[in-house]
Amino acid sequence: MTRTLDKLYDGLPTGHFIGGEWHVGNTDLPVENPATGAVIATVADGGPDTAAIALDAAVAAANDWAATDPRTRSDILMKAFHLLHERAHRIAQILTLEMGKPLAEARGEVVYGAEFLRWFAEQCVQAGGEYFRAPTGGQRILVTKQPVGPVLAITPWNFPLAMVTRKVAPALAAGCTIVLKPASQTPLTALELMRVFQDAGVPAGVVNCVTTSRSAAVATTIITDERLRKLTFTGSTGVGRKLLAQASERILRTSMELGGNAPFVVLASADLDKAVAGALAAKMRNGGQACVAANRFLVHDSLAVEFAERLTAAMSALRMGDGMDPATALGPLIDRAAVDQMHWLIEDAVARGARVHSTAELPDSPGHFVRPVVLTKIDPKAQVWREEIFGPIAPVRAFSDIDEALALAQDTESGLAAYVFGEKLGETMNFAEGLQSGMVGINTGIISDPAAPFGGVKASGLGREGGSTGLDEYLETKYLALRLS
Ligand code: SIN
Repeated sequence: MTRTLDKLYDGLPTGHFIGGEWHVGNTDLPVENPATGAVIATVADGGPDTAAIALDAAVAAANDWAATDPRTRSDILMKAFHLLHERAHRIAQILTLEMGKPLAEARGEVVYGAEFLRWFAEQCVQAGGEYFRAPTGGQRILVTKQPVGPVLAITPWNFPLAMVTRKVAPALAAGCTIVLKPASQTPLTALELMRVFQDAGVPAGVVNCVTTSRSAAVATTIITDERLRKLTFTGSTGVGRKLLAQASERILRTSMELGGNAPFVVLASADLDKAVAGALAAKMRNGGQACVAANRFLVHDSLAVEFAERLTAAMSALRMGDGMDPATALGPLIDRAAVDQMHWLIEDAVARGARVHSTAELPDSPGHFVRPVVLTKIDPKAQVWREEIFGPIAPVRAFSDIDEALALAQDTESGLAAYVFGEKLGETMNFAEGLQSGMVGINTGIISDPAAPFGGVKASGLGREGGSTGLDEYLETKYLALRLS
């Protein structure tokens, strides 16, 4: 089954990982390098039958894993953390080859993703409980937590490693077993991670991975099986809605990290140097392909022209190219459809009166590259203002009144991330508190942190990942009433 990348990648796993073993599939799923358009490997392409076998394995391992003491689970997660660091270079290269982000960013993602393993290794031994006398007298109330049961995790292509560890680490820490379905575009990183878990001593069946191009069929097979107890998904709001509809039939526990449309607000009191640096980070991390990416820039009249000029210069200066080249600061988009979508968003905005600003040059390459642009004179009805962009386009609108800015910022069904820049503490904090979003960056364009609760309000999802509450997503609360004679 294994096809070659090159000698460096000898031993690249390409089968499903089920019950602690590698399973070769009947059909192949090609994996493309978005920087070149070339197929770099093929992996097994599973269907409903493979999905059922993977769930069987997770169910078979569930009781033993739930009974494993927290210290053992913690030690295994910590070992996986160290192994991931040891293999960081190799895994970052694989990540760049299948997803396109520059190698330095891929290394950053490995470090970020590894932190979820360490964080939940630390959380897993902190479980508390309650014991107290009932207000009415005789009985005692005991409250404890138990693993929710077998989990299905569906992860996206934009962070092929960190979105997996963000789900697998708390599931394992809580005592749950898991079936992972990684994105069809980026299965290689997930499979390398399976090897990390295997080598860290995760028992057979506790973590399983099915690679597939038939995502809906695989997901449906597992979700409709009454042995599954929890669904966790990171991806678009559209797919999240469909999964939630299926999960509601089963009354499944769900965690949903869905799309964003983050406002990035520059108040009159903002320090422009900080605001431009923050905007570059919030917009261009991962080439704009992040659900927390700044999507709509709202800038006070007094700063708007200079902000747009400086952001254009900063975005255009990012050297575009193959992520494997150490000089590359901006990689390709994931596929041709994503490039076409960026062109369409720009055309729609221009047809509604927008101006395009960019001095960036495209590399001479067949890869999926798109020029980063700033758009001004934005009509709020333009699609680029209404939807999650997922690419290097920065639409900028000026505002004169802070209440108007808040109203414009809230004018979306999404509520994942938001950013506000200002040097007047009270005004800036009030604005941040008034925003309807799960996360707000104040004078910073980077908010993601395994120790912080990541998640959104409104149509951006349900639940939180990471932070001190991330473990609870995989635990059920159980109350025991004790009558003392
Ligand atoms: C995402 O875009 O899906 C997650 C980004 C992050 O963890 O920062």
